[in-house]
Amino acid sequence: KMWCQGWLRSLAILLLAALSLEPSQALIGKEKSAVFLSPEFVLGPGSVVDSYYQDIDFPRGHIALKSFNAEVVDETGLPVPLQEIYLHHWVIERYYQRKGVEAPGSSSIKETHNPDFITVRNSGICQDNVLAQYFGLGSETRKTATHVPDPYGIEIGNPVEIPDGYEEKWLLNVHAIDTRGVEDRLGCAECRCDLYNVTEDGHGYPLSSDYKGGLRCCYDKTQCRVKEGFEGIRRSLYMKYTVKWVDWDSSVVPVKIYIFDVTDNWKSSNASTVHRARHNCRVEYDVGSCSITGETEDGCVDVKRTSLTMPTGGHVIYGVSHQHSGGIGSTLYGEDGRIICSSIPTYGEGKEAGNEAGYIVGMSTCYPQPGSVKISDGETLILESNYSSTQKHTGVMGLFYILVAEPSPNPSLLLHSPFDMHANSKVYNSVSAVALLGLAIAAAIVVVYRRRKETEYGYEALVV
Ligand SMILES: *[C@@H]1O[C@H](CO)[C@@H](O)[C@H](O)[C@H]1NC(C)=O
Ligand SMILES: *[C@@H]1O[C@H](CO)[C@@H](O)[C@H](O)[C@H]1NC(C)=O
Ligand SMILES: *[C@@H]1O[C@H](CO)[C@@H](O)[C@H](O)[C@H]1NC(C)=O
Repeated sequence: KMWCQGWLRSLAILLLAALSLEPSQALIGKEKSAVFLSPEFVLGPGSVVDSYYQDIDFPRGHIALKSFNAEVVDETGLPVPLQEIYLHHWVIERYYQRKGVEAPGSSSIKETHNPDFITVRNSGICQDNVLAQYFGLGSETRKTATHVPDPYGIEIGNPVEIPDGYEEKWLLNVHAIDTRGVEDRLGCAECRCDLYNVTEDGHGYPLSSDYKGGLRCCYDKTQCRVKEGFEGIRRSLYMKYTVKWVDWDSSVVPVKIYIFDVTDNWKSSNASTVHRARHNCRVEYDVGSCSITGETEDGCVDVKRTSLTMPTGGHVIYGVSHQHSGGIGSTLYGEDGRIICSSIPTYGEGKEAGNEAGYIVGMSTCYPQPGSVKISDGETLILESNYSSTQKHTGVMGLFYILVAEPSPNPSLLLHSPFDMHANSKVYNSVSAVALLGLAIAAAIVVVYRRRKETEYGYEALVV
């Protein structure tokens, strides 16, 4: 009931927002834009929200998404800085829901093995529904470009793809931590278990003593330690998100979304087994302090690498990485060592929203000249994520997200060797793909849950 009330209130605010933001809803040439508000969430000092909002407001119909931007705002619509509300992550997922079926109440659709709800994941490459999102970022949201350049777009809402009797819907997961008045702002943001005083994760499974921090310690309704005597009011907050899109037509070239995770310790030395490789994306990892390990000659940089195989290649249209505080950059390399994309964080220097000192407020992106950066089918890539190790970190991430335009299987094109495309060539019009886009972070709770399920069912995930 509380949830419902929150929803009504947020709808009311959305209407207000829609009125006051009318200019941005106008058509910009072909491109359309809309601003939405998530359902309300309420946070007090030290508290955590990790909510899954089903069937959120989203553009409908057969369209191509062009960008997705978001930020946390208060009841008056003002941006809230990260020192107050640390936006750990938000994630947008696509799913099909059987018509006429009620969504399960509080429990996440992701956690139900229910044929009435089908997650439509991106192109991979993690196991199951881990990192399945189309969009998702964290503290860097305000200054990270997500725009998909013309003529590309992320195709959604194609009626031919939606199974009979189902409709396409969107899920929003928001994970935010109110760090007003907390004892250790970085510790709360890094979900250090001692600060949350928890001994079990969000599913009631005991935490081992070597699990020092991460999402399993800062699940919904947990509480990070606040300074003695600190008082702060509980506040109503919303995630405000701006979606841009164009109507679908044959001039739009679809792109596929891939998200790579530096913790994926998948191993394969044999390309022919790629399609049944078992991925193991753990999403989060820890960085030890160099003053303890004594490795000061490396300049106190923690370098984590993994190799990953792209099942199907194509042209890279966009790239960006996701890191947490302490991150100093991440690079995706091709098999021959060439740089596919390097993405470097920008740290804020002040107090205002979008420029918060000590926080990653933006990540640099790559927009290669279309056709200039190509990944071959079955190519093995190296993902490298660097963190400063002058202090230890828990629950950090090293994700890399790329958009890829694939050669079309269109037979008429085979005559013209679809693999031999030239930059800016018209051949691009025939490039086709199931379109997906996303970046960032899946709740570790889900990861853990899925892992359990996997072992229970003992099935092997396909890499598609
Ligand atoms: C931590 O949790 C335990 C048991 O849940 C409780 O007894 C204790 O008071 C808590 N400590 C703090 C500092 O909140
Ligand atoms: C790769 O795997 C296939 C099938 O499992 C096997 O026939 C082949 O010999 C392997 N190649 C290498 C180089 O290991
Ligand atoms: C990461 O560290 C490695 C090893 O020091 C270095 O070669 C690479 O350039 C660094 N990459 C970034 C993006 O900082």
